[in-house]
Amino acid sequence: MTFAQTPMGRTGGMAARIGRLAGHVPVATVYVVGILLIAWPFMQALTGALGPDPVRTLEQKLGLSALQVLVVMLALTPLRRFAWINLLRFRRALGLTALMIVSAHLAVWLFLDVRDPARIWNDILRRPWITVGMAAFLMMLPLAATSSGAAIRRLGAAAWRRLHMLTYVLVPLAAVHFVMVRKGWQIEPLIYLAFIVLLLTLRLEQLLPRRRNKKRSRP
Ligand code: HEM
Repeated sequence: MTFAQTPMGRTGGMAARIGRLAGHVPVATVYVVGILLIAWPFMQALTGALGPDPVRTLEQKLGLSALQVLVVMLALTPLRRFAWINLLRFRRALGLTALMIVSAHLAVWLFLDVRDPARIWNDILRRPWITVGMAAFLMMLPLAATSSGAAIRRLGAAAWRRLHMLTYVLVPLAAVHFVMVRKGWQIEPLIYLAFIVLLLTLRLEQLLPRRRNKKRSRP
C-alpha cells in the first residue's frame, strides 16, 4: 500500500488539492465577499425584506457576519495543523474584512439606531453588552493598523506577535457580546463562544510547546 492509499495519504492528497484550488483564488475575493455581506442586508432593508424592524435586523445580520468572518479567520491555523489545508494567505484579508463589517455594524447603530450623541456615550458606558462590543471593536483597530508587511518590519516580529495576541481577547469578547445581546443564555451564541474557545485553545496549544522548547534551549 502506497502512502497515497492510506487514510492519512488520502486526507493529505485532498488537503493538497484544496490548497492548490485555493491557490487560484485571488485574496481580493475575500474583500468582495465582505462588501456583498454588507451590501446585501442594506439592499434587503431598502426593499422592505427585513421585516417590521429593519434597522435592528440589519444590525443583527451585520454583527453575525462579522463574527462568522472572525471565526473563519481563527480556524485557519487549526485547519493547517490538523487538516493540512493551508489557507493562511487569506488571514490578513479576513481580519480586515471583519473590521469592515463591524464598522458597518457600528455605523448602523450610531447613525440609524441611536443617533443621539448623549445617548451614544450613555449606552457605551452604562450598557455592559455595548461596552463589551465597543472594547472588541477598539482592539481590532491597532491590529488592522499593523497588518501590513511594513508594519511587521517596523515593530519587529516579537512585538508584532505580542500585539496580535489581542486576537485572543477580542474574538471571545465579541462572542460574549453576542451572548449578552441575546439575553437568557440562548444556545446559538453559546455555541459560537464554545467553538471560539476551542479554536483558541488549539492555537494556544501550538504556541506553548514553542515556549517550552525556548526555555529548554536556554543555557
Ligand atoms: C467585534 C465587534 C462586534 C461583533 C463581532 C459584534 C457582533 C454582534 C452579534 C453577533 C450580534 C447579534 C446578532 C443576532 O442577534 O443575531 C450583535 C448585535 C448587536 N450589536 Fe454587535 N458586535 C460587535 C461590536 C458592536 C459594537 C461596537 C456595537 C455598538 C457600540 C454593537 C452593537 C450591537 C447592537 C445594537 C446589536 C443588536 C442588538 C439587538 O438585537 O437589539 N456591536 N453584534
